[in-house]
Amino acid sequence: MSGRGAGLRERAVAPERDPGGLLEPPPREEPYYRPLGDELQVFTAAAQDRLPVLLKGPTGCGKSRFVRHMAWRLGRPLVTVAGHDDLSASDLTGRYLVRGGETVWQDGPLTEAVRAGAIAYLDELVEARQDTVVVLHPLADDRRVLPLERAGERVAAHPDFQLVISYNPGYQSLAKELKPSTRQRFVAIELGLPPPDAEAEIVAREAGVSLGTAMSLVRVAHSIRPLRDRGLAEVPSTRLLVRAARLVHAGLEPAVACRSALCAALTDDPELEATLAEIVAAVLG
Ligand SMILES: Nc1ncnc2c1ncn2[C@@H]1O[C@H](COP(=O)(O)OP(=O)(O)OP(=O)(O)O)[C@@H](O)[C@H]1O
Ligand SMILES: [Mg+2]
Repeated sequence: MSGRGAGLRERAVAPERDPGGLLEPPPREEPYYRPLGDELQVFTAAAQDRLPVLLKGPTGCGKSRFVRHMAWRLGRPLVTVAGHDDLSASDLTGRYLVRGGETVWQDGPLTEAVRAGAIAYLDELVEARQDTVVVLHPLADDRRVLPLERAGERVAAHPDFQLVISYNPGYQSLAKELKPSTRQRFVAIELGLPPPDAEAEIVAREAGVSLGTAMSLVRVAHSIRPLRDRGLAEVPSTRLLVRAARLVHAGLEPAVACRSALCAALTDDPELEATLAEIVAAVLG
């Protein structure tokens, strides 16, 4: 424990944990991921060919879980960075820090991944500033190199280095679209919300409820999802369904679980919430 604490001060990052940009060793146990199409094969082929991957899909549809699963499959460490509009290029690549009166270079999470042959998963990268995105260009094409201008170094990517970015097409305004020069460097994998049978399987497995219970929750979600066209900004994702199912697993009635995990979580508009509650009551009888 004390060793890890000292490491934390030394490196400013701990290799074992990942609250937004640290190297995690390959998962020891298989992170459960239920494939929905040929995403496992496409990702594996892209990794073999050292091509970067763009994951597209709505919130809570399994993008992060898929990446962890692939880290396990390929036996590679993983670095996750959450994109936001303040994320700068040096947040990814690194910066000089003053430590004990000395100025030392500190690799950022992307640089760590490039050197270590890890998967770098940059979540919601479109949120980041354009100058941040551009840093990826020489890494995402045949050059596979990360220029660290301030440190005066060009880091050649480790052969196992794999770049993955994700993006939720529903969220982005046009101004925040990825530029063609960026997206054309990536192999795109589209992950949508699962079909009912697959979703019930996921919910049952993740929450420890029966397949029958999971299926009834999935039916609720499938009845609510069309309301997207009638003012519901966010439809219930698989993540929300897993949440509702966990509440059922903990002893709540399915209708009560749905009202708190789905209805109230999705909207603040009392009328819309009442409509959702009616749907729940009608579907669950
Ligand atoms: N195909 C799947 N296999 C296994 N679990 C899944 C799958 N899809 C969704 N899940 C479940 O849904 C939860 C949310 O998935 P995840 O966190 O990967 O979503 P995400 O697409 O990364 O969302 P966000 O865009 O909000 O980050 C997971 O924790 C898992 O329980
Ligand atoms: Mg995610």
